[in-house]
Amino acid sequence: MLILGIETSCDETGVALYDTAGAGLLAHAVHSQVAMHEAYGGVVPELASRDHIRRLIPLARGVFGQAGREIEQLGAVAYTEGPGLAGALLVGTSFAHALALVLDVPAIGIHHLEGHLLSPLLSQHPPAFPFVALLVSGGHTQLMRVDGIARYALLGETQDDAAGEAFDKTATLLGLSYPGGPALARLAESGIPGRHRLPRPMIASGDLEFSFSGLKTAVMLLVRAADPDPQFRADVARSFQDAIVEVLAAKCAQAMEATGLTRLVVAGGVGANHALRARLDAQGARSGFDVYYPEPELCTDNGAMIALAAALRLQQQDRQVRKRSAFGVRPRWDLETLT
Ligand code: KG4
Ligand code: ZN
Repeated sequence: MLILGIETSCDETGVALYDTAGAGLLAHAVHSQVAMHEAYGGVVPELASRDHIRRLIPLARGVFGQAGREIEQLGAVAYTEGPGLAGALLVGTSFAHALALVLDVPAIGIHHLEGHLLSPLLSQHPPAFPFVALLVSGGHTQLMRVDGIARYALLGETQDDAAGEAFDKTATLLGLSYPGGPALARLAESGIPGRHRLPRPMIASGDLEFSFSGLKTAVMLLVRAADPDPQFRADVARSFQDAIVEVLAAKCAQAMEATGLTRLVVAGGVGANHALRARLDAQGARSGFDVYYPEPELCTDNGAMIALAAALRLQQQDRQVRKRSAFGVRPRWDLETLT
């Protein structure tokens, strides 16, 4: 079956075509709105929605052209139903339902984080179930136990800022433009390790919860107190990244030990961070677990992960129960409630 995947939950318009008959991912395209939101220092929801409207149809035409398929061949349309910005979600949802109605095929609403945590299944070395998933994005930091499709148990999550949010806010303090995560990671490469002592929040809490807002405050105090020359900024970036990576890696190791599982999946935008990957790989080699990542281009938001999640859901269900999801969006939506 040919599935169109649509992602419009935040500031990326993602579209993909996935073939369940063996060919897998045929084509995908993403338009990032980063340049548009940069002037405002963050995502402006109304602008995001309007841009999704502008981009969706040309991107969809593009993936059909790239894959050499026709719209009439679609067997289902998958879209991000939530969580995310309500107006942005509505654009993809409206498009998906209209198309599904015209073609008389199912419209399948997908949870954005389910897309992220299944995205490593699209890579060259996909993990088998069960696994522990570290979801680290701009809006979420969670450790989940994943026993199969829709079998997700929350092990721990952030009590305040998400890891990506901490990267972005710290980047702003260091004068880097939005979204600061990748820029901060680049700056950290020229930083000298250990120049600044930053806290490792909740590293010894004995549970799998996180807290990152204090780290950002510690950077704010450092930056206020000193002359922000380029090397100082790079050193602070390095110390910040080292702190956040150390906490994430320690909690992952604890989660692997607590569950007794041997596979760790890392997904979400922060999963693209090289320092985090190196640290987790080393930790895995030491402690005896394997680490799986999505392909780099599928770490951030994309339509491929949405199409894949729908394909796996359809595969799992009886053919008779394929129905159109109700029209609506879920800006707030708990992954654990998925059935
Ligand atoms: O998953 P994602 O694309 O969108 C959300 O669902 O939030 O994640 C975006 C987040 C942003 O906070 C961005 O700064 C961060 O991922 N990010 C990174 C890197 N690449 C993206 N953070 C640290 N290092 C990176 N290389
Ligand atoms: Zn995301």
